[in-house]
Amino acid sequence: MRNCFICFIILFFASLNLHAEDGHDLWLRTKSTGIVDIVCEKSSSTLNIAIQELKQCWRGESGTTLTLTVKPNILIVDDGFKISPGEIQANTDLGILYGVYELLRRQQTGEQIKEEIFNPSYERRLLNHWDNLDGSIERGYAGLSIFWRKGKDSLIVTGEDKKLWEEYARANASIGINGTVLNNVNASPNMLTSEIINRAKEVADVLRPFGIKIYLSVKFSSPSLIGGLKTSDPLNPEVTKWWNAKVKEIYNLIPDFGGFLVKANSEGQPGPQDFGRTHADGANMMADALKPNGGIVMWRAFVYETSGGDRAKQAYSEFMPLDGQFRDNVIIQVKNGPVDFQPREPFSPLFGAMKKTSVMPELQITQEYLGHSIHLVFLSTMWEEFLQSETYQQGKGSTVARCTDGSVYPQKYTAIAGVSNIGLDANWCGHHFAQANWYAFGRLAWNNSLSSEQIAVEWIKLTFCQTAENFDKIKDPLLVEWDLNFLKPVKQMILESREAAVNYMMPLGLHHIFAPDHHYGPGPWWAPKGVRKDWTPPYYHQADTNGIGFDRTQTGSNAVSQYHEPLNSKFNDLKTCPEIYLLWFHHLPWNYKMKSGRSLWDELCYYYDIGLQQVRQFQKVWDKIQPYVDSQRFVEVQSKLRNQCSNAHEWKDACLLYFQQFSRQPIPYEIERPVHDLEYLIEIDMKRH
Ligand code: GCU
Repeated sequence: MRNCFICFIILFFASLNLHAEDGHDLWLRTKSTGIVDIVCEKSSSTLNIAIQELKQCWRGESGTTLTLTVKPNILIVDDGFKISPGEIQANTDLGILYGVYELLRRQQTGEQIKEEIFNPSYERRLLNHWDNLDGSIERGYAGLSIFWRKGKDSLIVTGEDKKLWEEYARANASIGINGTVLNNVNASPNMLTSEIINRAKEVADVLRPFGIKIYLSVKFSSPSLIGGLKTSDPLNPEVTKWWNAKVKEIYNLIPDFGGFLVKANSEGQPGPQDFGRTHADGANMMADALKPNGGIVMWRAFVYETSGGDRAKQAYSEFMPLDGQFRDNVIIQVKNGPVDFQPREPFSPLFGAMKKTSVMPELQITQEYLGHSIHLVFLSTMWEEFLQSETYQQGKGSTVARCTDGSVYPQKYTAIAGVSNIGLDANWCGHHFAQANWYAFGRLAWNNSLSSEQIAVEWIKLTFCQTAENFDKIKDPLLVEWDLNFLKPVKQMILESREAAVNYMMPLGLHHIFAPDHHYGPGPWWAPKGVRKDWTPPYYHQADTNGIGFDRTQTGSNAVSQYHEPLNSKFNDLKTCPEIYLLWFHHLPWNYKMKSGRSLWDELCYYYDIGLQQVRQFQKVWDKIQPYVDSQRFVEVQSKLRNQCSNAHEWKDACLLYFQQFSRQPIPYEIERPVHDLEYLIEIDMKRH
């Protein structure tokens, strides 16, 4: 009998999955199952969207009356909202739209709807597109740009452009994102030419009703490159005049323009230091130009020089002396870790340390160092680990989240940015599961204390459970089966996926041992003569016959000193340093005894192997859920997992065979033997870039 029931369920779900799904609908695939009566006294383009969403996606009781009330409430902050059965209240129209999305999400995921206020953690929640004006995307793995293209029609705005921008805006608004930087931080000066600003205006017009402001990345030397000036010195009056005029031109076209994002004196980009000025001089000059219209400057702290010693220390060393010197509409945008979006880094010590300057986190949604859009890696757990890190700057509870969202320091503006993983691919992100990272970023930007588990459950339900047109016909017993056979294993898989990637790429605090340029596969050996040392993996892993790891203790580079006590001592002392950061802070002999009782070498071998086993397990999980998912997404994810598994194997073999030359010890015998030769792995890496 039970077998029959299971067969029935499998056939039932299979029949629902006959039509192909390219993933374009993201987490927004629900169709309404009843009628809702909407009472709303005000009218605006944003409220019209809210009403349309309710009509299209209503899953509550048919015939319900819902009132949308725009009315000041001191308990509601910015575009926050209050939901109660029968009413959504907000200070702003956008707050109503956000409330509608929250209500619909709750209906779709089966979460409770009771009287509750929802306020955003950060006032500005931005995507940073690293899109170039020719349509290519730096570190983009999902096709070309949705905003820019090359060719003679590059400036023509088509109906298709507008449709796509509107879908993009809707998806962002549904998770609370309210800002987007349209172009690469390695900015072309042409971004500020009138014709390009005009196209940006067209984008802004489409995004506006969804509450999304646009921002631009600008090149610091634009005054001399496109303005015909002899200098771009920020203290030169002609330069100031040029920026003022440019800002005015932008606001004339885009009255709610958000501001500038600037990468200056970083990786070869020009900046104020080229003229003997400081980051503060440069940022303040732009901030003054933007201030009259309410614009902000997001000034990046991603700086390092070959001559500057330990790369992990440099942003802190350069920016801390400037604390308190920035205008109140400047926010220093700091990457989560002190090096560069690695699979695991401790948090950047700048968080919480800059007490008189606004600081915002920059996360990377696109998987530059995490397997591009080939590997299934759910980044929410990494961001949660980062946001909940204790900085101790104002005692216990001064987490990174609280040090940046205004809870600990009074910042005039609070913000968070995520480097986008979006492109022209039908499924937007290149991998169906990479959509979860876009979703998770938005949800954490709205509420920085959400758990990854909650985000995972929401996303899985919205993306996979709502697929079938007649989902509403699925009664409880079947839903229980779905929970058990799809939701539970897939949730477990994605929650584990980032740790798996750390294990097969860079366990125990190892970092930046990627092949050069593409940052995809392993390259611990890569160190050609003449290349700057801090771009080569041996600079980071420091492996030799004595041991492995970067000594950042008090007797090493002393990067530990940039952390507030008790972290300084905790990281410095081998007995207390968390093993996940061991080789980030310490250089240790191969026979160093780990907490497990194994030698460091053996432990390293085990971690690489565990990582590979985890991906093999993911393959099994995915194969088993086949009856519950449409065939297109099933096959596409299955194929990516195969690729990921063979890559994980390469990572393991490459790192173990390479490091074994120094450890001079056997790989523990219970672990599978390498199947690739080191020479072969070195060769394929060279071909990849
Ligand atoms: C990394 C990345 C670059 C990017 C840079 C940045 O180094 O590889 O492509 O430009 O970060 O964040 O500015």
